[in-house]
Amino acid sequence: MDQDRLIASLLAAVPHPMLVVGDDARIAWLNAPARAILGDADGRHYLTVIRQPEPVALLERVLAGGEGGTTRWRLTGPGRDTVYRGLVARVAGLGASLAFQDVSDVEHAADMRRDFVANVSHELRTPLTALLGFIETLRGAARDDPAARARFLGIMEREALRMNRLVGDLLSLSRVEAEERVRPRTQVELAGLARSVLATLRGMADAAQVTLTLDAEADLPPVAGDLDQLTQVLHNLVENAVKYGGSGKTVRVVLRRVAHDPVLRSPGLSLSVIDQGAGIDAIHLPRLTERFYRVDTHRSREQGGTGLGLAIVKHIINRHRGRLKISSEKGKGSVFEVVLPLI
Ligand SMILES: Nc1ncnc2c1ncn2[C@@H]1O[C@H](COP(=O)(O)OP(=O)(O)OP(=O)(O)O)[C@@H](O)[C@H]1O
Ligand SMILES: [Mg+2]
Repeated sequence: MDQDRLIASLLAAVPHPMLVVGDDARIAWLNAPARAILGDADGRHYLTVIRQPEPVALLERVLAGGEGGTTRWRLTGPGRDTVYRGLVARVAGLGASLAFQDVSDVEHAADMRRDFVANVSHELRTPLTALLGFIETLRGAARDDPAARARFLGIMEREALRMNRLVGDLLSLSRVEAEERVRPRTQVELAGLARSVLATLRGMADAAQVTLTLDAEADLPPVAGDLDQLTQVLHNLVENAVKYGGSGKTVRVVLRRVAHDPVLRSPGLSLSVIDQGAGIDAIHLPRLTERFYRVDTHRSREQGGTGLGLAIVKHIINRHRGRLKISSEKGKGSVFEVVLPLI
């Protein structure tokens, strides 16, 4: 077998884009994945095909007889950046090879993990700093002041409860994530579930002077679901509607059957939580289910929120192969609709 075919067949066996630049600086071979990215580059000078300074510098060095090595470069595109990791090596008697790989997903996951840890640390540190500050005050200035002591202990309790809630939410998020691929099997009757969630939240709604109503279509069939998780979904949505819906208003929960959901491509059950609050600006809607995302961080914190409620909701709905649709009109209120497949 001649050398040309041998090299071409070896390159064809590599799953990543790979090419060989000859000693004349022209691209002598490239495999199909490389061609998909670089086009028909056969025979062209490598500088007219590869323009990123990082791989170019390495190729130059190797073609001049230097050492090979690894490099990474970033292509900024209209959407997300693409990040490549590449390896340049000497090919004895021929020139230099460049093999590379799109590592954007890996980089993106690493970024998310870093952000998440930074967020968690920040969220925990805020109450912790308050606690430490008050402990110091109680030991010092407020030592013999019973009134101040009682007030500070009240604040300390609130901060400790916030940390407790945050840890609880984080655990619940990781539990949901761990079983996201396991489909729930038990049958859940949503109207009964809604009645019990509303009963649980009645006290909070009364305190906020919010009226809760349930409007459930008669004879709804049960859905395949996890009772605890679906309870959590409705609890979080109604709690938000009460918290952000404004006092003196009504929060409605509406349950109905959907003959055919165009996105799920199946019949479904729709559960909507409708409030008459200030609404949410459209720019926030796509990010609402991100962990720790809040429209008004200060206000949410004030109300003891951790910013994890909707992230948990989204993961639970994903596990149920359902979907969440959020629509909102400034000044009129918001609708959080969950559609679960009926199959
Ligand atoms: N019904 C609603 N009306 C207006 N804004 C809302 C509504 N529901 C959620 N939001 C906004 O979305 C953000 C994220 O909600 P999410 O439930 O995830 O967190 P939270 O309510 O701040 O805290 P947590 O639910 O963990 O106690 C809220 O901070 C709030 O800004
Ligand atoms: Mg919430």
